[in-house]
Amino acid sequence: MLSVRDLRIAFDGVEVVRGLSFDVHAGEVLALVGESGAGKSLTAKALLGMLPPEAVQTGTVRPDLSSARGRRIALVPQDALSALSAVHPVGDQLAAAVRSVARVSRAEARARAVAALDRVGIPDAARRARSYPHEFSGGMRQRAVVAMATINAPDVLIADEPTTALDEERRDQVLRLLTEQREAVGAALVLVTHDLEAVRRHADRALVMYAGRMSELGPVRDVWERPLAPYTAGLLACLPQNARARRLPTLPGTPPTPDALPPGCAFAPRCTRATELCGREEPRPQQVDGRLVACHHGEKA
Ligand SMILES: Nc1ncnc2c1ncn2[C@@H]1O[C@H](COP(=O)(O)OP(=O)(O)O)[C@@H](O)[C@H]1O
Ligand SMILES: [Mg+2]
Repeated sequence: MLSVRDLRIAFDGVEVVRGLSFDVHAGEVLALVGESGAGKSLTAKALLGMLPPEAVQTGTVRPDLSSARGRRIALVPQDALSALSAVHPVGDQLAAAVRSVARVSRAEARARAVAALDRVGIPDAARRARSYPHEFSGGMRQRAVVAMATINAPDVLIADEPTTALDEERRDQVLRLLTEQREAVGAALVLVTHDLEAVRRHADRALVMYAGRMSELGPVRDVWERPLAPYTAGLLACLPQNARARRLPTLPGTPPTPDALPPGCAFAPRCTRATELCGREEPRPQQVDGRLVACHHGEKA
């Protein structure tokens, strides 16, 4: 569906995404995980063709869905309230989104808008389409935003930390809604999150990123059960069910800053398994057991 090859993103000559290659398969949920600063959001923006103008991108993202006339890629905004205009009824906004990509009559656009609201579970959708966002509850607004992102049946949906602002229960509801609706319209979902439990529940594959590179990429089921890259193992050790103590453990140390990367593997200074080789040579992703692992010790893990 999407093929990313040797993606590099730099600011002022400093690379922050450093040669990332991965595919997004049709209909899958691909999670991008990793600590803050890993380059997840910039990668998501590159897929959307929405990098800031000062960013220098090299490598390829194919096909370029963002320039496709049919808007084949859509962003699920983080903030439901600001994503909707306050001055137009919700149904009008959805209908306008339909008419921005398809030459259909007003009545047809209207009908699709109502159908989309109905699909995301808004009761009495025909009447509710005439309401303004402030007349919706928070949950209904969230549903309306998902209806908006999916109304033109994009091939790929991008959601960057879509639930950070919500409490745990709501978070799961929203992710369930998102994954359901993705399935209903047949879109793939690229989900950027630091919520590893949400990944376990909702994602098919995970791309674990560290300091702008891939650490590990594979089916969530396998990776969560037996991480091969020490960085993935360290992240997963921070999951609540893996923690004996009440306080969540975190990985010791902090990620390097992009302009002061250590030589060799960027994770080596924090890695309990690092050897002399790791401090000298940056590992490349290798096929191991149906996944990609960028670690000099990945195979023996
Ligand atoms: N507009 C920008 N100018 C300079 N550096 C940036 C800019 N946007 C992001 N960065 C840097 O790029 C790195 C990756 O950022 P980002 O993709 O937002 O990380 P993540 O989403 O994984 O937390 C960070 O070190 C961040 O400071
Ligand atoms: Mg981010």
